[in-house]
Amino acid sequence: MIPREVIEEIVRRSDIEQTIGSYVTLKRAGSNMVGLCPFHSEKSPSFTVFPGTDSFYCFGCGAGGDVITFIMKAENIDYVAALELLAKRCGVAIPQDNSSEYRKGPTRERIREMNVAAARFFHNYLLNAPDAAQARGYFASRKLTGATIKHFYLGYAPNDFGKLTNYLKTKGFTEEEMITGFLCGKSSKNGAAYDYFRNRVIFPIVDTSKNIVGFGGRVMDDSKPKYLNTSDTPAFKKSHNLFALNYAKDYCADELILCEGYMDVIALHQAGIQNAVATLGTAITEDHARIIAKYTKKVIVSYDSDEAGVNAANKAMRILAKVGVEVRILKMKGAKDPDEFIKKFGAAAFRNLVGESRTGFEFKLEAITAKYNLEDTSQKVRASAEIVGIIADYHSGVERELYIARAAEVTKIPQAALREDVERIRKARIREQQKEVTREAHASIRSLGDKVNPDAAQNSRVAFAEETVLGLMLIFPEYRDRIASEDIRLEENDFLTSLGKRAFSAIMRLHGSEGGFAFALLGEEFTPDEIGRIRSWEIKRRALSENGTGVFAGAINVLHEERMKREKPADSISLADALAQKRRELEEARKKRFEEN
Ligand code: UTP
Ligand code: MN
Repeated sequence: MIPREVIEEIVRRSDIEQTIGSYVTLKRAGSNMVGLCPFHSEKSPSFTVFPGTDSFYCFGCGAGGDVITFIMKAENIDYVAALELLAKRCGVAIPQDNSSEYRKGPTRERIREMNVAAARFFHNYLLNAPDAAQARGYFASRKLTGATIKHFYLGYAPNDFGKLTNYLKTKGFTEEEMITGFLCGKSSKNGAAYDYFRNRVIFPIVDTSKNIVGFGGRVMDDSKPKYLNTSDTPAFKKSHNLFALNYAKDYCADELILCEGYMDVIALHQAGIQNAVATLGTAITEDHARIIAKYTKKVIVSYDSDEAGVNAANKAMRILAKVGVEVRILKMKGAKDPDEFIKKFGAAAFRNLVGESRTGFEFKLEAITAKYNLEDTSQKVRASAEIVGIIADYHSGVERELYIARAAEVTKIPQAALREDVERIRKARIREQQKEVTREAHASIRSLGDKVNPDAAQNSRVAFAEETVLGLMLIFPEYRDRIASEDIRLEENDFLTSLGKRAFSAIMRLHGSEGGFAFALLGEEFTPDEIGRIRSWEIKRRALSENGTGVFAGAINVLHEERMKREKPADSISLADALAQKRRELEEARKKRFEEN
């Protein structure tokens, strides 16, 4: 079997939006994405992707699960084949128990050594070679000092197909190593290695243990592509590394500045602002976010001021919020990016911008007010509808109140009116969720033809209680803990349906295993249709999160009661007992009377 770490890594790396997005056209709807379901035919979209929980569910046909389930259904392949396909797409190696196939090939250590040699080659070339004059001029034109060039060990890759390859050969590296390490391409004609980076200035990427793990190379004019970056190699995953984190990690405990580009980060560090990093030719991933959360409490997103930058900032906000770091968005004024800003206005001005950076709500509020003309009544109505929609998303009442006050200030709409709308939206959402749950319950009452959980039709009240218990167990690990510690008494036999029993025992078994519960592992023992059903239990109860406890206890009571009824066909026995007792009593009484007479 595939080790669970590998399965979890595959799920982590496979961006669900992107994976599903390559099969289904998805549109944003609040914090989710919706599209037309690929598994049944429909005209209005009920297929929903929940990036926050890495899951999907179709409210029309009940298909649901995670990326693995999606691929199983979309490609019509089994669990292992789906994992293999995803692994290939996201660059995770699946170890084979009985062959050393995955061990063969250049090791991470060899590639790191080779990167050190290559970085030295590029750096020395930049400093000394006559044909690097243009590159030296380029860095000078971007106002980089000699000290900065040394600090970041910047370099230049000559305009030649063989100089680096030949140099690395003299250092004992093989062509296979160079190709695997992404320093060389492989000729389609004769398979020979040739220099991958040519006539580009070079930015080495260093990890937090000071290994040189990859490179970025920029052209010195307007040709395309502007940057080439090392692709994933055994020594490098771009979704895992941040440029300059090796330096920034010592300065970012309070605040980390997240930029888009290499040059932004270098300019900031040169100006003495050393808590800046950038992702590497990719949008921020959940891996990045988890890494960032290890080093800092607060991230200042300092992306470019263009539309792409604003969209990327929105995405970064969403991903960073999930790992629990505080997020602020910096508003770039008078320059397109931090590099240009520092050059124009200096470090002190940039520090002021950082100080003025806004919370996520302010950022979204501004995006809305920029879109509409608030002097125009009908536009103002639309703007306020969007604003109250966003405020209604916040779970904390304190936050909602603060944002209502702020929105009132900006739109000049009285707080009471905004509050009324926010509450109306929240009530409607909760009603909607409850309706969905009830509708589902009715559907399952009628579900004599339910193939996924045929036992449910026997007793829809129990089946519904089962789904509630299991759904909440999936959402809240504390319920699993309390069941495991027998603080809550619940066992497999409390469940009536076989799907309920199997799901309960699988969840608790995984919960007690070393790595804990992970949805991805259920795919091993449940069919995609069953996974879809299990997901639906969870998804439909996410809205209950605020008062889940009462609902949970109530549903458990139903299970216990029903089990008692099931196990003691007690009524008939006790009735017989009672009759026998009565008969004995009458007999006794008669005897007495007889004796008395
Ligand atoms: P930008 O186009 O904003 O470049 O891309 P930049 O960093 O500001 O560079 P200068 O100032 O023009 O020199 C931001 C980042 O996106 C990645 C790089 O990591 C870059 O730093 N990128 C951009 C690529 O990987 N490839 C490209 O072709 C362009
Ligand atoms: Mn730039």
